[in-house]
Amino acid sequence: MVFEAHEQVLSILYWGRDIEVLGDPGDLKSAVTKSVSNSSTDEPLTPGIMREHSRSFLGHPTLSGHRGGKAWSTQFSLVDYSHQGNTLIAQLHDEAAALHLEISYHLTDEGILKINAILTNKGEADYSVDQFVYWLPLADRAREILDFTGRWSHERHPQRRPIVSGLSSREIREGRTGHDYTIAQIAMTSSTNFSGGEAWALSMAWSGNSVHHVERLADGVQSIGAGELLMPGEIILAPGTSYQIPGVVANYSDTGLDGLSHNYHSWLRARPHHPTNVRPRPLTLNVWEAVYFAHDEETIKKIADAAAEIGVERMVLDDGWFHDRRHDRAGLGDWVVDPAVWPNGLGSIIKYINDKGIEFGLWFEGEMVNPDSDLYRAHPEWILHEADRVPPLWRNQLVLDISHPGAYEHVLGQVDAVLSEYNIAYIKWDHNRGLNDAGHLGQASIHNQTAAIYRLFAELKRRHPKLEIESCASGGARVDLGIVDVVDRFWTSDNNDALERQTIQRWTGIAIPPEMLGTHIGPTHGHQTARTHEISFRAINAIFGHAGIEWNVTEANDEERVILKKWAALYKAKRGMLHSGRAVRVDHPDANAFLYGVVAQDQSEALFAYVQHRMNESNFPAMALIPGLDPRATYEVKVVGDVGKPRALQVKNPPWLKGVRLSGAALASIGVRPPILAPENAILISATRVD
Ligand code: GLA
Repeated sequence: MVFEAHEQVLSILYWGRDIEVLGDPGDLKSAVTKSVSNSSTDEPLTPGIMREHSRSFLGHPTLSGHRGGKAWSTQFSLVDYSHQGNTLIAQLHDEAAALHLEISYHLTDEGILKINAILTNKGEADYSVDQFVYWLPLADRAREILDFTGRWSHERHPQRRPIVSGLSSREIREGRTGHDYTIAQIAMTSSTNFSGGEAWALSMAWSGNSVHHVERLADGVQSIGAGELLMPGEIILAPGTSYQIPGVVANYSDTGLDGLSHNYHSWLRARPHHPTNVRPRPLTLNVWEAVYFAHDEETIKKIADAAAEIGVERMVLDDGWFHDRRHDRAGLGDWVVDPAVWPNGLGSIIKYINDKGIEFGLWFEGEMVNPDSDLYRAHPEWILHEADRVPPLWRNQLVLDISHPGAYEHVLGQVDAVLSEYNIAYIKWDHNRGLNDAGHLGQASIHNQTAAIYRLFAELKRRHPKLEIESCASGGARVDLGIVDVVDRFWTSDNNDALERQTIQRWTGIAIPPEMLGTHIGPTHGHQTARTHEISFRAINAIFGHAGIEWNVTEANDEERVILKKWAALYKAKRGMLHSGRAVRVDHPDANAFLYGVVAQDQSEALFAYVQHRMNESNFPAMALIPGLDPRATYEVKVVGDVGKPRALQVKNPPWLKGVRLSGAALASIGVRPPILAPENAILISATRVD
């Protein structure tokens, strides 16, 4: 990044590829300065990071707000800055508007740029913040936008389109991150793909409402921006108070989209509390799709027996264990074990599971309440609402106003009591509805609600230091770079169909490393799509994440159980590599197949999946390249049989499947010929260094 501080205006002259030797700063300024065009201001524009009208900037501003209709236009001056290592902290002040902004830019060793700011009201009357958007300049050669859209069971599907004049925006107004959230807004050149080209990405580090923009002005100036989306009157700063503005995470790559992932993953993995820095990711079995609400100790014990035989390390009791929760119409809010289904409490089932060497996990949805609950009957005023309206029900539930101290203490107290009484290693924390009409004492409260859940998670972890939390929201509706700091895992999607998961996992994995993404083997006949898949396909899909099972394994036949056991052993043997290596997605020429994998950081090995989504156009599938290995080293390459056999449409397999030796260079440029697979089948390919 190149900043300029000139005449009390702070500007970003450049953000992109690392430039080791810049040359004369004055000459750079002169090189980038625009001419004065006809019909424009008389001097070239220097709007600075605040992008203000008062400095002749006519695009989307950084700060919008007012003080009872006054101070609607600002002119911030740079009054001070400090610069240490890769961090710049700047103080900007507007005397007339009586506002102060502290903004910090921190470039991490992994190449991630974090920007945070605090706005303080220095005046004597309230100041209303309408919006604050962080902006970064985009190179003119960025010509396309890639962002993500989705819905329940269909998260993070890509949309790629040209950058055109105007503002291209993605808004989230549902109060949680959302299925439709673009986990990153990416601008890139027209030729950027997984393995090459430039990409500039920006993401909110926030789980509430958000907006992501790409702006191209009529004069050709391009920028990328993101900020918290505020409801009217949501942030009104009393004199002397501050708005801690949710931050953003920016990322640049000149090695394609995989380069972006490499930066995100390295940055997250460098955190001391990153889950793999604490312990390997335990093979997990969740009983949700096995039993749904039909909890019964004997059934769960039988599943535990099968789980232990397979080698499961963590078992999760999902929704349905607490007071009156026999269906999704009652119980949320009453976090006490229901003796109707657990007459012995949870102690005996947890002991049974623990005695088999398996950890126990439990489901909560603490931010929610059913009207049919003791909590709601006692405190109907503790819901987020406006006027005297009750918001529309969504999955029969309402949102608890956890910025209300009473509601917060209730949830914290009940969850803490369960965690204190029982040996619980992990909780799956759900959030199954959007926030409609989400007011607190007459004021929009999405910001405060979001801050409160971060506080609650941090407090639970403070009280239970080994506790892990999975962020779930009807599947992947709360996966973002804000909550990532207080949780250990994401439930990537409610859709466990291995075919659907290919796309969902591919694109969620752009920003989130695989060890944080729950990927489970679903039932033979998928509960969401009713598709039938071979166990090999489901197993290959599930191994590329924090692996688990979401299937009633007591129904698996003997052959399937043997495969599950081998697969579990394979996951345990390879998770160290899979959860630390470099994620690679190959720009495969055949649109009917996906080819991707993980290469060990020391290039000693790799695991790749070749996935045939649809029937191949030609008889022989395109060669599968295995890039990223040491070009000079020799690797033993073969198909891994421990996941079971795929269905193939051929008379004879290509001979290499049993093992061949090729150099890393040959694997990157020639590859291996995949077998002719039936659609919705996959093979797992291993490459192991032999010299
Ligand atoms: C949500 C989750 C599921 C499951 C159910 C329980 O839909 O995404 O995994 O936990 O809630 O009600």
